[in-house]
Amino acid sequence: MNKRIFVTGAAGFIGFHLASFLQARGDTVLGIDNFNSYYNPELKFTRAKKLKNHGISILEADICEGEKLREIVEEFAPTHFVHLAAQAGVRYSLTHPGAYLKANIDGFLQVLEACRLSTGLKLIYASSSSVYGLNTKAPFSIHDNTDRQASLYGVTKKTNELMAQTYHHLYGIPVTGLRFFTVYGPWGRPDMAYYSFTKAILEGQPIEIYNDGKMMRDFTYIDDIVNGIAAAIDLGAKCELFNLGNNQPMQLMDLVSYLEMYLKKKAITKFLPMQAGDVLSTYADIDYSFEKLNFKPTTSLKEGIGKFVDWYRSEIG
Ligand SMILES: NC(=O)c1ccc[n+]([C@@H]2O[C@H](COP(=O)([O-])OP(=O)(O)OC[C@H]3O[C@@H](n4cnc5c(N)ncnc54)[C@H](O)[C@@H]3O)[C@@H](O)[C@H]2O)c1
Repeated sequence: MNKRIFVTGAAGFIGFHLASFLQARGDTVLGIDNFNSYYNPELKFTRAKKLKNHGISILEADICEGEKLREIVEEFAPTHFVHLAAQAGVRYSLTHPGAYLKANIDGFLQVLEACRLSTGLKLIYASSSSVYGLNTKAPFSIHDNTDRQASLYGVTKKTNELMAQTYHHLYGIPVTGLRFFTVYGPWGRPDMAYYSFTKAILEGQPIEIYNDGKMMRDFTYIDDIVNGIAAAIDLGAKCELFNLGNNQPMQLMDLVSYLEMYLKKKAITKFLPMQAGDVLSTYADIDYSFEKLNFKPTTSLKEGIGKFVDWYRSEIG
């Protein structure tokens, strides 16, 4: 059945890909974004323009403005509300904590209120692998305790999960939280390592590698993530949490080697100590996501970085 899907943060990296995918499969999509300048808004405007060319509108609106948000939702009358708008990034949360409380806590409350006032609307929202915080048991399972956070960003995502579960308990709103693991790919975020390393390597600038590169990330390709979000929309669960990760953690230096291989240029490396807020490793246990969502990532880091570099060369230069 055709769905009407409302997407917040639709001019962002994941929102852009998700909106294109949903529209292509026959759903009706409306997006909002506040086009903030956490990273160059030109990239967000370009993504929005591309979506518009495919018949998807993105309204400029802020999730923190509750009344306006509720009006837009009421008028569009969606069946599903996919909430991706947030202040993302772990390191920025050390220097700009207020931005996280505003967008991720105040904003999330407005999202929940908009869902509460709109009968039958199903909420699917972005959480993060960051909620696993200081946990060391791997792989990270949704059944693990997540009480020990490593960054304020993680705190806001964990809080979102608690708020969503509480609104489900109080008002019966169907809520699904998706813990994304280091998502990368074309049209990606300039603040993330794979993107900033690419730029620096091509410009002959040094790249900063923390903890001697002894860090592992469960890098997950954007198309695999979009498949997982679409499956969660289709499931429309009552109250669930899922890991969406590749289930294949890779060393940070593997990322650097693949970039050097595709860019045909050696990186100038500057090794620095571990950064506050960072964790050593992320690794998703996706058994439950496979069971409920048939979630099976298919893109290796090597293949996905190749696609990213092709995109970077053609779009950015
Ligand atoms: N990319 C990843 O690796 C990753 C990993 C874990 C979780 N996440 C989460 O997934 C979601 C999407 O991430 P992304 O990588 O696409 O990030 P992104 O920054 O590219 O997209 C987020 C979008 O939300 C918009 N936005 C921010 N605050 C807003 C507000 N108050 N009102 C309206 N719009 C607002 C931004 O302008 C941006 O376009 C976020 O919730 C993020 O925390 C991402």
